[in-house]
Amino acid sequence: MRRCDELGAISDEPGKLTRTFHSPGMQRANALVGSWMQSAGLEVREDAAFNLLGRWTCSRRGAKTLLLGSHLDTVRDAGKYDGPLGVLVAIAAVQHLREAGVELPFQVEIAGFSDEEGVRYQTTYLGSRALAGTLTRADLARIEEKGVQRARRRRGEFLAYAEVHIEQGPVLENRNLAVGVVSAIAGQSRLCVEFHGRAGHAGTTPMALRHDALCGAAELALAAEKCGVLATVGQLTVAPGASNVIPGHATLTLDVRDQRDAARRAAVRVLQASAKEIARRRGLRFTWTPVQETAAVVCNRALTKVMQAAAARHEREVLLLPSGAGHDAAAISAICPVTMLFVRCKGGISHHRDESVKTADVQRAVAVLADFVQILAAQHA
Ligand code: HGY
Ligand code: MN
Ligand code: MN
Repeated sequence: MRRCDELGAISDEPGKLTRTFHSPGMQRANALVGSWMQSAGLEVREDAAFNLLGRWTCSRRGAKTLLLGSHLDTVRDAGKYDGPLGVLVAIAAVQHLREAGVELPFQVEIAGFSDEEGVRYQTTYLGSRALAGTLTRADLARIEEKGVQRARRRRGEFLAYAEVHIEQGPVLENRNLAVGVVSAIAGQSRLCVEFHGRAGHAGTTPMALRHDALCGAAELALAAEKCGVLATVGQLTVAPGASNVIPGHATLTLDVRDQRDAARRAAVRVLQASAKEIARRRGLRFTWTPVQETAAVVCNRALTKVMQAAAARHEREVLLLPSGAGHDAAAISAICPVTMLFVRCKGGISHHRDESVKTADVQRAVAVLADFVQILAAQHA
Protein backbone atom coordinates (compact mmCIF):
# COMPACT_ATOMS: atom_id res chain seq x y z
CA MET A 1 0.00 0.00 0.00
CA ARG A 2 2.97 2.29 0.69
CA ARG A 3 4.22 1.41 -2.81
CA CYS A 4 0.86 2.46 -4.29
CA ASP A 5 1.21 5.80 -2.52
CA GLU A 6 4.82 6.27 -3.67
CA LEU A 7 3.99 5.29 -7.27
CA GLY A 8 0.83 7.40 -7.16
CA ALA A 9 2.98 10.48 -6.55
CA ILE A 10 4.78 10.07 -9.90
CA SER A 11 2.86 12.19 -12.40
CA ASP A 12 3.23 14.24 -15.59
CA GLU A 13 0.88 16.89 -14.23
CA PRO A 14 1.34 18.88 -11.01
CA GLY A 15 -1.36 18.37 -8.37
CA LYS A 16 -2.99 15.38 -10.08
CA LEU A 17 -2.06 11.86 -11.18
CA THR A 18 -1.58 11.56 -14.94
CA ARG A 19 0.90 9.18 -16.62
CA THR A 20 0.55 8.61 -20.36
CA PHE A 21 2.34 6.41 -22.88
CA HIS A 22 6.15 6.83 -22.81
CA SER A 23 5.91 10.10 -20.84
CA PRO A 24 8.64 11.25 -18.42
CA GLY A 25 6.33 10.16 -15.58
CA MET A 26 6.02 6.69 -17.08
CA GLN A 27 9.80 6.41 -17.36
CA ARG A 28 10.16 7.31 -13.68
CA ALA A 29 7.39 4.87 -12.77
CA ASN A 30 9.11 2.06 -14.68
CA ALA A 31 12.39 2.80 -12.86
CA LEU A 32 10.71 2.67 -9.43
CA VAL A 33 8.59 -0.45 -10.07
CA GLY A 34 11.60 -2.05 -11.77
CA SER A 35 13.58 -1.59 -8.54
CA TRP A 36 10.82 -3.38 -6.60
CA MET A 37 10.84 -6.21 -9.14
CA GLN A 38 14.63 -6.41 -8.74
CA SER A 39 14.35 -6.62 -4.93
CA ALA A 40 11.86 -9.48 -5.45
CA GLY A 41 14.65 -11.31 -7.29
CA LEU A 42 13.30 -10.85 -10.83
CA GLU A 43 15.33 -10.12 -13.96
CA VAL A 44 14.03 -6.73 -15.11
CA ARG A 45 13.93 -5.20 -18.59
CA GLU A 46 11.83 -2.82 -20.67
CA ASP A 47 10.68 -4.02 -24.10
CA ALA A 48 10.40 -2.03 -27.34
CA ALA A 49 6.88 -0.87 -26.43
CA PHE A 50 8.09 0.44 -23.02
CA ASN A 51 6.39 -2.40 -21.14
CA LEU A 52 8.24 -3.12 -17.88
CA LEU A 53 8.96 -6.87 -17.53
CA GLY A 54 10.21 -8.80 -14.49
CA ARG A 55 11.10 -12.47 -15.07
CA TRP A 56 11.50 -15.46 -12.69
CA THR A 57 13.06 -18.28 -14.73
CA CYS A 58 12.49 -21.88 -13.65
CA SER A 59 14.90 -24.81 -14.00
CA ARG A 60 12.63 -26.80 -16.42
CA ARG A 61 14.09 -26.29 -19.91
CA GLY A 62 11.62 -25.10 -22.54
CA ALA A 63 8.92 -24.43 -19.96
CA LYS A 64 6.17 -21.96 -20.92
CA THR A 65 5.70 -18.65 -19.13
CA LEU A 66 2.87 -17.63 -16.83
CA LEU A 67 2.30 -13.92 -17.41
CA LEU A 68 1.00 -11.78 -14.54
CA GLY A 69 0.55 -8.03 -14.18
CA SER A 70 -1.52 -5.06 -15.32
CA HIS A 71 -0.83 -1.52 -16.57
CA LEU A 72 1.23 1.36 -15.12
CA ASP A 73 -0.22 4.18 -17.21
CA THR A 74 -3.23 6.17 -15.96
CA VAL A 75 -6.08 8.36 -17.17
CA ARG A 76 -5.97 12.10 -16.45
CA ASP A 77 -6.40 13.09 -12.79
CA ALA A 78 -6.53 9.37 -12.02
CA GLY A 79 -6.82 7.24 -8.93
CA LYS A 80 -3.64 5.43 -7.87
CA TYR A 81 -4.93 1.82 -8.00
CA ASP A 82 -6.37 1.37 -11.52
CA GLY A 83 -3.53 -0.62 -13.11
CA PRO A 84 -0.63 -0.25 -10.64
CA LEU A 85 -2.39 -2.31 -7.95
CA GLY A 86 -2.37 -5.35 -10.23
CA VAL A 87 1.35 -5.01 -10.93
CA LEU A 88 2.26 -4.53 -7.25
CA VAL A 89 0.03 -7.41 -6.08
CA ALA A 90 1.77 -9.67 -8.63
CA ILE A 91 5.22 -8.60 -7.35
CA ALA A 92 4.14 -9.23 -3.74
CA ALA A 93 2.71 -12.68 -4.58
CA VAL A 94 5.82 -13.72 -6.52
CA GLN A 95 8.10 -12.41 -3.75
CA HIS A 96 6.08 -14.43 -1.21
CA LEU A 97 6.40 -17.62 -3.31
CA ARG A 98 10.13 -17.16 -3.88
CA GLU A 99 10.77 -16.48 -0.19
CA ALA A 100 8.77 -19.62 0.66
CA GLY A 101 11.22 -21.53 -1.57
CA VAL A 102 8.50 -22.58 -4.02
CA GLU A 103 9.82 -24.21 -7.23
CA LEU A 104 7.54 -23.77 -10.26
CA PRO A 105 7.29 -25.94 -13.42
CA PHE A 106 6.97 -22.79 -15.55
CA GLN A 107 8.61 -19.37 -15.90
CA VAL A 108 6.79 -16.39 -14.43
CA GLU A 109 6.87 -12.91 -15.94
CA ILE A 110 5.25 -9.82 -14.46
CA ALA A 111 4.28 -7.08 -16.94
CA GLY A 112 3.73 -3.42 -16.17
CA PHE A 113 2.01 -2.53 -19.45
CA SER A 114 2.80 0.87 -20.93
CA ASP A 115 -0.52 2.08 -22.35
CA GLU A 116 -3.76 0.39 -21.38
CA GLU A 117 -5.77 3.61 -21.08
CA GLY A 118 -4.78 5.00 -24.46
CA VAL A 119 -4.95 8.61 -23.24
CA ARG A 120 -2.12 9.93 -25.42
CA TYR A 121 -3.24 8.51 -28.78
CA GLN A 122 -6.83 7.34 -27.95
CA THR A 123 -5.61 3.81 -28.92
CA THR A 124 -6.03 1.50 -25.96
CA TYR A 125 -3.78 -1.50 -25.10
CA LEU A 126 -0.77 -0.21 -27.11
CA GLY A 127 1.68 -2.00 -24.77
CA SER A 128 -0.16 -5.31 -24.38
CA ARG A 129 -1.07 -5.43 -28.10
CA ALA A 130 2.56 -4.82 -29.00
CA LEU A 131 3.55 -7.78 -26.80
CA ALA A 132 0.74 -9.86 -28.34
CA GLY A 133 1.81 -8.86 -31.85
CA THR A 134 -1.64 -7.53 -32.76
CA LEU A 135 -0.83 -3.85 -33.45
CA THR A 136 -2.23 -2.69 -36.78
CA ARG A 137 -0.51 -0.53 -39.39
CA ALA A 138 -3.00 2.21 -38.43
CA ASP A 139 -1.89 1.98 -34.77
CA LEU A 140 1.77 2.29 -35.77
CA ALA A 141 0.95 5.27 -38.02
CA ARG A 142 -0.79 7.03 -35.12
CA ILE A 143 2.17 6.94 -32.75
CA GLU A 144 5.43 8.89 -32.88
CA GLU A 145 7.54 6.14 -31.31
CA LYS A 146 8.99 3.80 -33.91
CA GLY A 147 9.80 0.10 -33.49
CA VAL A 148 7.24 -0.75 -30.79
CA GLN A 149 6.15 -3.81 -32.79
CA ARG A 150 9.53 -5.37 -31.89
CA ALA A 151 8.00 -6.09 -28.45
CA ARG A 152 6.10 -8.98 -30.06
CA ARG A 153 6.68 -12.29 -28.24
CA ARG A 154 6.97 -15.79 -29.72
CA ARG A 155 3.67 -17.59 -30.44
CA GLY A 156 2.98 -20.28 -27.82
CA GLU A 157 5.43 -18.75 -25.34
CA PHE A 158 2.78 -18.05 -22.74
CA LEU A 159 0.93 -20.67 -20.70
CA ALA A 160 -1.64 -18.19 -19.34
CA TYR A 161 -2.21 -14.63 -18.19
CA ALA A 162 -3.71 -13.65 -14.81
CA GLU A 163 -4.53 -10.03 -13.97
CA VAL A 164 -5.57 -8.54 -10.65
CA HIS A 165 -7.47 -5.26 -10.97
CA ILE A 166 -9.80 -3.09 -8.93
CA GLU A 167 -13.43 -3.77 -9.87
CA GLN A 168 -14.10 -0.11 -10.75
CA GLY A 169 -17.75 -0.81 -9.92
CA PRO A 170 -19.96 -1.29 -6.82
CA VAL A 171 -20.85 -5.02 -7.04
CA LEU A 172 -18.27 -6.51 -4.63
CA GLU A 173 -18.89 -3.74 -2.10
CA ASN A 174 -22.66 -4.35 -2.28
CA ARG A 175 -22.09 -8.08 -1.68
CA ASN A 176 -19.53 -7.31 1.04
CA LEU A 177 -16.85 -9.37 -0.74
CA ALA A 178 -13.17 -8.45 -0.90
CA VAL A 179 -12.45 -10.20 -4.22
CA GLY A 180 -14.37 -11.67 -7.16
CA VAL A 181 -13.51 -13.58 -10.33
CA VAL A 182 -14.13 -12.02 -13.75
CA SER A 183 -16.28 -13.95 -16.24
CA ALA A 184 -15.96 -11.68 -19.30
CA ILE A 185 -14.68 -8.28 -20.46
CA ALA A 186 -16.97 -5.92 -22.38
CA GLY A 187 -16.12 -5.01 -25.96
CA GLN A 188 -15.48 -1.39 -26.82
CA SER A 189 -15.57 0.93 -29.83
CA ARG A 190 -13.55 4.17 -29.75
CA LEU A 191 -14.32 6.78 -32.41
CA CYS A 192 -13.53 10.42 -33.24
CA VAL A 193 -16.31 12.58 -34.77
CA GLU A 194 -15.74 16.05 -36.27
CA PHE A 195 -18.47 18.57 -37.19
CA HIS A 196 -17.55 21.36 -39.57
CA GLY A 197 -19.95 24.36 -39.60
CA ARG A 198 -19.30 28.03 -40.11
CA ALA A 199 -17.66 30.33 -37.58
CA GLY A 200 -19.36 33.71 -37.31
CA HIS A 201 -20.11 36.78 -35.26
CA ALA A 202 -22.09 35.94 -32.09
CA GLY A 203 -23.84 39.30 -32.19
CA THR A 204 -24.83 39.72 -35.82
CA THR A 205 -25.66 36.19 -37.09
CA PRO A 206 -29.38 35.35 -36.71
CA MET A 207 -29.95 31.99 -34.97
CA ALA A 208 -31.81 30.55 -38.00
CA LEU A 209 -28.86 31.29 -40.29
CA ARG A 210 -26.19 29.60 -38.17
CA HIS A 211 -24.19 26.42 -38.82
CA ASP A 212 -23.04 25.92 -35.26
CA ALA A 213 -20.67 22.91 -35.03
CA LEU A 214 -20.86 22.77 -31.23
CA CYS A 215 -24.66 22.48 -31.22
CA GLY A 216 -24.37 19.59 -33.70
CA ALA A 217 -21.85 17.86 -31.45
CA ALA A 218 -24.08 18.48 -28.42
CA GLU A 219 -27.04 16.83 -30.17
CA LEU A 220 -24.89 13.78 -30.93
CA ALA A 221 -23.73 13.59 -27.30
CA LEU A 222 -27.37 13.54 -26.16
CA ALA A 223 -28.17 10.88 -28.77
CA ALA A 224 -25.28 8.79 -27.37
CA GLU A 225 -26.81 9.11 -23.91
CA LYS A 226 -29.97 7.40 -25.20
CA CYS A 227 -28.46 4.82 -27.57
CA GLY A 228 -29.23 1.80 -25.33
CA VAL A 229 -25.66 0.68 -24.51
CA LEU A 230 -22.88 2.34 -22.51
CA ALA A 231 -21.81 5.40 -24.53
CA THR A 232 -19.61 8.28 -23.42
CA VAL A 233 -18.35 11.50 -24.95
CA GLY A 234 -15.20 12.03 -22.87
CA GLN A 235 -13.49 14.73 -24.88
CA LEU A 236 -14.88 17.72 -26.82
CA THR A 237 -12.85 20.45 -28.46
CA VAL A 238 -14.32 23.58 -30.06
CA ALA A 239 -12.76 25.99 -32.55
CA PRO A 240 -11.96 28.79 -32.96
CA GLY A 241 -12.75 28.93 -29.20
CA ALA A 242 -13.70 32.54 -28.44
CA SER A 243 -16.78 33.51 -26.43
CA ASN A 244 -18.12 35.85 -29.14
CA VAL A 245 -17.54 33.52 -32.12
CA ILE A 246 -20.00 30.84 -33.28
CA PRO A 247 -18.09 27.50 -33.20
CA GLY A 248 -17.12 26.54 -36.73
CA HIS A 249 -15.54 23.26 -35.73
CA ALA A 250 -16.17 20.69 -32.99
CA THR A 251 -14.40 17.37 -32.36
CA LEU A 252 -15.68 14.77 -29.93
CA THR A 253 -14.55 11.30 -28.84
CA LEU A 254 -17.08 8.47 -28.59
CA ASP A 255 -16.58 5.43 -26.32
CA VAL A 256 -19.27 2.75 -26.84
CA ARG A 257 -19.34 -0.51 -24.83
CA ASP A 258 -21.37 -3.62 -24.21
CA GLN A 259 -20.85 -7.27 -23.26
CA ARG A 260 -22.66 -8.15 -26.53
CA ASP A 261 -20.68 -7.17 -29.62
CA ALA A 262 -23.76 -7.12 -31.87
CA ALA A 263 -25.56 -4.63 -29.60
CA ARG A 264 -22.48 -2.43 -29.42
CA ARG A 265 -21.96 -2.42 -33.21
CA ALA A 266 -25.68 -1.71 -33.79
CA ALA A 267 -25.48 1.29 -31.43
CA VAL A 268 -22.46 2.63 -33.32
CA ARG A 269 -24.38 2.36 -36.60
CA VAL A 270 -27.39 4.18 -35.07
CA LEU A 271 -25.14 6.97 -33.79
CA GLN A 272 -23.46 7.33 -37.18
CA ALA A 273 -26.92 7.71 -38.77
CA SER A 274 -27.80 10.32 -36.11
CA ALA A 275 -24.63 12.26 -36.90
CA LYS A 276 -25.54 12.23 -40.59
CA GLU A 277 -29.09 13.49 -39.88
CA ILE A 278 -27.86 16.19 -37.48
CA ALA A 279 -25.30 17.39 -40.04
CA ARG A 280 -27.88 17.48 -42.85
CA ARG A 281 -30.44 19.38 -40.77
CA ARG A 282 -27.89 21.91 -39.50
CA GLY A 283 -25.97 22.37 -42.73
CA LEU A 284 -22.79 20.88 -41.29
CA ARG A 285 -20.22 18.49 -42.70
CA PHE A 286 -19.03 15.68 -40.46
CA THR A 287 -16.27 13.06 -40.41
CA TRP A 288 -16.71 9.75 -38.58
CA THR A 289 -13.39 8.06 -37.74
CA PRO A 290 -13.31 4.67 -35.99
CA VAL A 291 -10.13 4.72 -33.88
CA GLN A 292 -10.25 1.25 -32.41
CA GLU A 293 -12.58 -1.66 -31.80
CA THR A 294 -11.99 -4.44 -29.24
CA ALA A 295 -14.38 -7.39 -29.18
CA ALA A 296 -15.81 -8.70 -25.90
CA VAL A 297 -13.67 -11.44 -24.35
CA VAL A 298 -14.89 -14.44 -22.31
CA CYS A 299 -12.25 -15.45 -19.75
CA ASN A 300 -10.85 -18.98 -20.19
CA ARG A 301 -13.06 -21.49 -18.37
CA ALA A 302 -10.33 -23.78 -17.05
CA LEU A 303 -8.21 -20.88 -15.77
CA THR A 304 -11.28 -19.25 -14.23
CA LYS A 305 -11.93 -22.48 -12.31
CA VAL A 306 -8.37 -22.32 -10.95
CA MET A 307 -8.87 -18.71 -9.89
CA GLN A 308 -12.22 -19.62 -8.30
CA ALA A 309 -10.55 -22.47 -6.39
CA ALA A 310 -7.84 -20.09 -5.15
CA ALA A 311 -10.42 -17.45 -4.15
CA ALA A 312 -12.53 -20.07 -2.34
CA ARG A 313 -9.64 -20.59 0.07
CA HIS A 314 -9.95 -16.95 1.21
CA GLU A 315 -13.50 -15.74 0.49
CA ARG A 316 -16.77 -17.10 1.94
CA GLU A 317 -18.49 -16.75 -1.44
CA VAL A 318 -16.76 -16.69 -4.83
CA LEU A 319 -18.70 -14.34 -7.09
CA LEU A 320 -18.24 -14.50 -10.88
CA LEU A 321 -18.87 -11.08 -12.43
CA PRO A 322 -18.43 -9.39 -15.84
CA SER A 323 -16.14 -6.40 -16.38
CA GLY A 324 -17.59 -3.26 -18.01
CA ALA A 325 -14.08 -1.82 -18.06
CA GLY A 326 -11.50 -2.87 -20.59
CA HIS A 327 -8.29 -4.55 -19.40
CA ASP A 328 -4.97 -5.71 -20.86
CA ALA A 329 -6.34 -9.25 -20.44
CA ALA A 330 -8.59 -8.50 -23.43
CA ALA A 331 -5.51 -7.83 -25.59
CA ILE A 332 -3.48 -10.75 -24.20
CA SER A 333 -6.39 -13.15 -24.81
CA ALA A 334 -5.24 -13.09 -28.46
CA ILE A 335 -2.15 -15.17 -27.56
CA CYS A 336 -3.06 -17.20 -24.45
CA PRO A 337 -5.90 -18.07 -22.05
CA VAL A 338 -6.69 -15.31 -19.53
CA THR A 339 -8.31 -14.94 -16.12
CA MET A 340 -8.86 -11.94 -13.86
CA LEU A 341 -9.39 -11.30 -10.16
CA PHE A 342 -11.27 -8.17 -9.07
CA VAL A 343 -10.59 -6.33 -5.80
CA ARG A 344 -13.35 -4.34 -4.08
CA CYS A 345 -12.93 -0.58 -4.35
CA LYS A 346 -14.73 2.00 -2.23
CA GLY A 347 -18.04 3.09 -3.77
CA GLY A 348 -16.95 1.58 -7.08
CA ILE A 349 -15.19 4.89 -7.72
CA SER A 350 -12.48 4.82 -10.41
CA HIS A 351 -10.89 7.07 -13.02
CA HIS A 352 -11.05 9.54 -10.16
CA ARG A 353 -8.61 10.68 -7.45
CA ASP A 354 -10.99 9.31 -4.73
CA GLU A 355 -10.35 5.73 -5.92
CA SER A 356 -9.46 3.62 -2.85
CA VAL A 357 -9.06 0.04 -1.60
CA LYS A 358 -8.69 -1.56 1.86
CA THR A 359 -5.36 -3.05 2.93
CA ALA A 360 -7.10 -6.25 4.11
CA ASP A 361 -8.67 -6.69 0.65
CA VAL A 362 -5.31 -6.21 -1.05
CA GLN A 363 -3.72 -8.73 1.32
CA ARG A 364 -6.44 -11.18 0.35
CA ALA A 365 -5.79 -10.56 -3.35
CA VAL A 366 -2.07 -11.29 -2.86
CA ALA A 367 -2.91 -14.55 -1.07
CA VAL A 368 -5.42 -15.58 -3.78
CA LEU A 369 -2.95 -14.85 -6.59
CA ALA A 370 -0.18 -16.80 -4.82
CA ASP A 371 -2.55 -19.74 -4.41
CA PHE A 372 -3.65 -19.42 -8.05
CA VAL A 373 -0.02 -19.82 -9.13
CA GLN A 374 0.47 -22.85 -6.88
CA ILE A 375 -2.74 -24.59 -8.00
CA LEU A 376 -1.76 -23.99 -11.63
CA ALA A 377 1.75 -25.31 -10.90
CA ALA A 378 0.28 -28.50 -9.43
CA GLN A 379 -1.65 -28.98 -12.69
CA HIS A 380 1.60 -28.67 -14.67
CA ALA A 381 3.94 -30.53 -12.33
O1 HGY B 1 -11.53 2.47 -20.23
C1 HGY B 1 -11.40 1.40 -19.65
O2 HGY B 1 -12.29 0.60 -19.60
C2 HGY B 1 -10.11 1.05 -18.99
O3 HGY B 1 -10.06 1.71 -17.76
N1 HGY B 1 -9.04 1.41 -19.85
MN1 MN C 1 -8.72 2.59 -16.43
MN1 MN D 1 -7.24 -0.38 -15.70
